[in-house]
Amino acid sequence: MGSGIAQVASQSGHYVILIDQSQSALDKSAVQLSETMSKLTAKGKLTKEDAELIQSRIIRNTNIESLSDSDLVIEAIVENLEVKKELFGKLDQIVKGSCVLASNTSSLSITAIASSSKTASRVMGIHFFNPAPLMPLVEIIPALQTDASLVAKMQSLITSWGKTVVIAKDTPGFIVNRLARPFYGEALRIYEEGIASISLIDIAMREHGGFKMGPFELMDLIGNDVNYAVTETVFRTMYYDPRYRPSITQLKMTEAGWLGRKSGKGYYDYNSPETHHADRNPTLEKLVFDRILVMLINEAYEALHLGIASSNDLDISMIKGVNYPKGLLQWGIEIGLNNVATKLDELYRYYGEDRYRCSPGIRKAISNV
Ligand SMILES: NC(=O)c1ccc[n+]([C@@H]2O[C@H](COP(=O)([O-])OP(=O)(O)OC[C@H]3O[C@@H](n4cnc5c(N)ncnc54)[C@H](O)[C@@H]3O)[C@@H](O)[C@H]2O)c1
Repeated sequence: MGSGIAQVASQSGHYVILIDQSQSALDKSAVQLSETMSKLTAKGKLTKEDAELIQSRIIRNTNIESLSDSDLVIEAIVENLEVKKELFGKLDQIVKGSCVLASNTSSLSITAIASSSKTASRVMGIHFFNPAPLMPLVEIIPALQTDASLVAKMQSLITSWGKTVVIAKDTPGFIVNRLARPFYGEALRIYEEGIASISLIDIAMREHGGFKMGPFELMDLIGNDVNYAVTETVFRTMYYDPRYRPSITQLKMTEAGWLGRKSGKGYYDYNSPETHHADRNPTLEKLVFDRILVMLINEAYEALHLGIASSNDLDISMIKGVNYPKGLLQWGIEIGLNNVATKLDELYRYYGEDRYRCSPGIRKAISNV
C-alpha cells in the first residue's frame, strides 16, 4: 500500500520519501513502479519523460530520520496497534511541528493511534483502497483529537490528487469496511444453512445485483485470512454485535490454508477452470440476492442513523471504493424502504436473532417520506 500511495503522490508532483524497515521491500517497490511506468508508457497513457520524473521524485531508504523536513507522513506499516503507536511516538520526535501525521489503517482506532503522539491534533486516518493508484476513493478519518482545519486541508490536498474524498467517523471499519460486512457475512450464513451453494450465491449477486464479483469470488481475491481478520476486528470492537459475527466456515478455510487465489485454492479451485459452474435457479437466486441486499441496505441506514458519514459520502464510498453498482441508501429507496423493513422483520421473526433487527435509520426514513 505504501508503494502505491507514494506513486499517487509522486504522480501529483510531490517529492516522496518512501521508508520501509526492509531494504528488499523497497527494492521490490522500485521494480514494480518501473514495470507499471513501462506499461503506462507503452499504452500511451504517460510520456517517457513523465514516467522518469515520477520515478525520480521517489527516494527510498530505511532511515526514518530522513522524514525530518516532510509536510505529510502517511504510515502504511503492519496492521498492529502497538507497533503503529510506537512509530507515531517516534515520528513526533523527528518531524517538524507543522507536519501532518496520517495512518492508512483499515481497521484500527485512529483516536488510539493519535493518543501516542504529543500533538494528537495533527493525526488523522487517510485510508486508500487497494490498488491505491487505481481506486478513486480515499476515506479521511479525524481522530477525536484532530484539528478540524487540518482535515479540510488534507481533504483538498487529496482531492487535488484526483481522488474522491469522503469523511468518516472514527468507528470500526469506517465506511466501506463496515457497510460491506453483510456482503460476506450473510452470504456465508446462507451457505452454512444449506440454502444455496457457493456458486449459486455468487451468480445471484452478479446476475441479479450487477456486482462485478460474487461474495465468495471476492473473499478468494481478498484472501480468507485478511477478510476474516477484518470481520473479527469489527465484531470485537462493536462489542460483539451479532450483525458482524464472523463465520466458522471462513475460519476453517483460513486454518486449512485455503486462502483463495493467493494459495491456489479457496472457495474455488484455481487450478480447475470448471468450478464456477452452478445450475441456474432464478427463484432461489432472487431470494438469495434479496436477503443479502436488504442486510447491506440495513447496514447503510444504521451508519446514517449513527452519523458515521453523510448520506452522499456513504453512497459514493461503496461505488468508488468497492465498485458497487449503486449506493446502498439510494438502492433502498429504489426497491422501497417499506419492502426492506418487511423483509428484515420477516427474517427477525423467523430467526429470533438480533442480527436481523431493522435499523431505526430505515424506520425514520420511512416515516419521513
Ligand atoms: N492491503 C490492502 O488491501 C490494504 C488496503 C487498505 C489499507 N491497508 C492498510 O495499509 C497498511 C499496510 O498494509 P499492506 O497490505 O501494504 O501491508 P504489507 O505487509 O504489504 O506492507 C507493510 C510494510 O511495512 C513494513 N514495516 C512493518 N513495520 C514497519 C516499521 N515499524 N517501520 C517501517 N516499515 C515497517 C514492512 O516491511 C512491509 O514492507 C495496513 O495498516 C493495512 O491495514 C491495506
